[in-house]
Amino acid sequence: MNFLSLIEAKREGQALDAAQIEEIVAAFTAGRIPDYQMAAFLMAVYFRGLQRAEVRALTLAMRDSGELLKFPSDPRPLVDKHSTGGIGDKVSLPLAPLLACLGFRVPMISGRGLGITGGTLDKLDSIPGFQTLLPTARIKEIVQSVGCVICGQTASMVPADKALYALRDVTGTVPSIPLIVGSILSKKLAESLDALVLDVKFGRAAFMPTLEKARELARALVTLSNECGVNTRALLTDMNTPLGRAAGNWLEVKESVACLEGGQVGTRSTASDSGREFRDAVERVPADLKELVLACAAHLLVQTGKAKSLDAARQQAADCLASGKPLAKWNEMLAAQGTDLAAYDRKLALDHAAPVVLELKAPQAGFVALCDARILGEVIRELGGGRLTKESVLNYDVGVDALAKPGETVQAGHPLARIHAADQAQAETACARLKTAFAISAQPPAAIPLIADNIEA
Ligand code: URA
Repeated sequence: MNFLSLIEAKREGQALDAAQIEEIVAAFTAGRIPDYQMAAFLMAVYFRGLQRAEVRALTLAMRDSGELLKFPSDPRPLVDKHSTGGIGDKVSLPLAPLLACLGFRVPMISGRGLGITGGTLDKLDSIPGFQTLLPTARIKEIVQSVGCVICGQTASMVPADKALYALRDVTGTVPSIPLIVGSILSKKLAESLDALVLDVKFGRAAFMPTLEKARELARALVTLSNECGVNTRALLTDMNTPLGRAAGNWLEVKESVACLEGGQVGTRSTASDSGREFRDAVERVPADLKELVLACAAHLLVQTGKAKSLDAARQQAADCLASGKPLAKWNEMLAAQGTDLAAYDRKLALDHAAPVVLELKAPQAGFVALCDARILGEVIRELGGGRLTKESVLNYDVGVDALAKPGETVQAGHPLARIHAADQAQAETACARLKTAFAISAQPPAAIPLIADNIEA
């Protein structure tokens, strides 16, 4: 292969055929194309784009660069959910056991956070003993016996994406829709799924800044995934505001467990007689988190013919969540993945695992008009809960919880959020920065729907 001529062809906007793309992927994965040439090719793709047939060839070549997960035939459909990432997005944690209880098998292969957005594997790493790196045989065993597993890609799965993503990350070529489609779908198609639901986020803390860009990405993902035989839909969801009331690895596990416990009234160490704190106590499961978990489950029920309408499917999922069975399934999954259950229970019983907790107080009374997810993500990263580089060592216990959300009323001096930090100085720095994430107004802000649209094939 004369790779230079392929770079030049793409630079001039010419289309490559499937055989050429397959050769590029195979050669790069095998280390036969130097990074400087691949970086030039990726930049050409970034500016010139790829035609539909090229994206398909790229995706399938990446999928086939490693081992595919194959499962025995079974009446339970294989399903998964993928989110493009956000702040406080812990949907995968309660969703996987809920789906297993609804009669699905869920081989949820997840990733780590980079930049300000969190990663499912980092959240799970905050659970004592939990193993996110499992050999293929064990992944299959857990999916077959428990019904769900949440783990990382094995070394032999989709190696082309690992190599390409690392290069894209340092060459300014991540935000290219064809490259994103290839990266996301190569991994999902390697799971041998029957159905997939995608949560494509837009807004301040999302990969896609606007609803229009998110729609473009969602359409490309849904079209190709369906063409490749996986029944796929996408939800377009708002990521201007964090999801739920907690962000930070361990705090998100706690909130996920609260979601699985299903709306029971919880206690808060900061409970007082203020209006907002009383509402927090009765709404221990954040409404937006529950809405998104149930929406993902409902779409998959409809996609696989297990429910006739979205309304009926949502009710089926809500009844299942309320039954307590998904909580038991979560505990079963934790045990199967090596959790030290006694240590986990002890940690779960704590109000906070970080050494210092500081409240951010509302400077005035009014309506919360803004809770900026991007600033929150930056604060958590500064506290040590997110990565500045791939080598960053995380503090799993830091973060922010008890967040006041847009539309809620607060009194002057009452808490807008609690900051969980490693020490007092870091807590105070975070508090000063987090203050800028909030705006309080005299009038209620316009209500913004969490799910802006659905994209179907
Ligand atoms: N997530 C991925 O897995 N790949 C991308 O390229 C972007 C987001």
